[in-house]
Amino acid sequence: MSTTFQLDTSTSRANPTPAPMKRLTVPRIRGRKKDGVTEKPLVMLTAYTARQAQLLDAHCDLLLVGDSLGQVIYGLPSTIPVTLRMMADHAAAVVRGSYHSVVVVDMPFGSYESSPQQAFESASFLLKESGAAAVKLEGGQAMAETVEFLNQRGIPVMGHVGLTPQAVNVLGGYMARGRSDAEADKIVSDSKALDDAGAFSIVIEGVVEPIAIAATEAVSCPTIGIGASAKCDGQVLVTEDMLGMFERVPRFVKRYEDIASVIDKTVAKYAEEVRDRSFPGDEQTYQPKS
Ligand code: KIV
Repeated sequence: MSTTFQLDTSTSRANPTPAPMKRLTVPRIRGRKKDGVTEKPLVMLTAYTARQAQLLDAHCDLLLVGDSLGQVIYGLPSTIPVTLRMMADHAAAVVRGSYHSVVVVDMPFGSYESSPQQAFESASFLLKESGAAAVKLEGGQAMAETVEFLNQRGIPVMGHVGLTPQAVNVLGGYMARGRSDAEADKIVSDSKALDDAGAFSIVIEGVVEPIAIAATEAVSCPTIGIGASAKCDGQVLVTEDMLGMFERVPRFVKRYEDIASVIDKTVAKYAEEVRDRSFPGDEQTYQPKS
């Protein structure tokens, strides 16, 4: 069971910014697109830990506990092996670390595809364990019945179309989608099916720009692009990618920083100081009181 208690101690790292704000809600996110127009684009980033959530929260509308944590945190080869337990634990940490953003948690591969009932079991487990407000699942038309089923039972759903990483074994890789007419039509019709089923927003990943624009214009709920178009109603990136934690990232990622180099330099300095015994110094050691 997740907890949101505050440790009442001045030395706790757990809650360095105890400044609770009113949290955004799913209806407010959905309501940002009015009559096909989103004046203020939605900002979403992935978050997997409490501290990361604390640092991102004030800047974002949504925090996504993405199943990309499989690769980013666990070093797995794809999102396929990610489990409900992993998602629930990371989502609980992100909820504890945030006060403002809507926290959305990915449903992992195998936890929702076989029936709406299976999806409800899995989604309710994730929300109960973590305190997150909504789930995200991959797939279009094939998932419409499930989206409606969950929505009618109190579980808001974010859809995900285009390049859907859980389908990597069917797609054959992570290349951009929507290059053929048939694929382009399917991305737009999948988006409409999710919208009609009650999805409160839809991630459009890795599709050629005109199709991302067509899908955005075709649906009433906000779309959130990743490798899609600036004309989507919002954007999402994997935080570690945009911070520059990895040398190799997909073409659609903008590396806003080079954190990997900062860490490399910093750790090299620490190792040098440990080896030449200049760390710990006087400021970091305790002496008996005189
Ligand atoms: O798992 C994830 O991080 C995602 C985003 C890339 C949209 O689904």
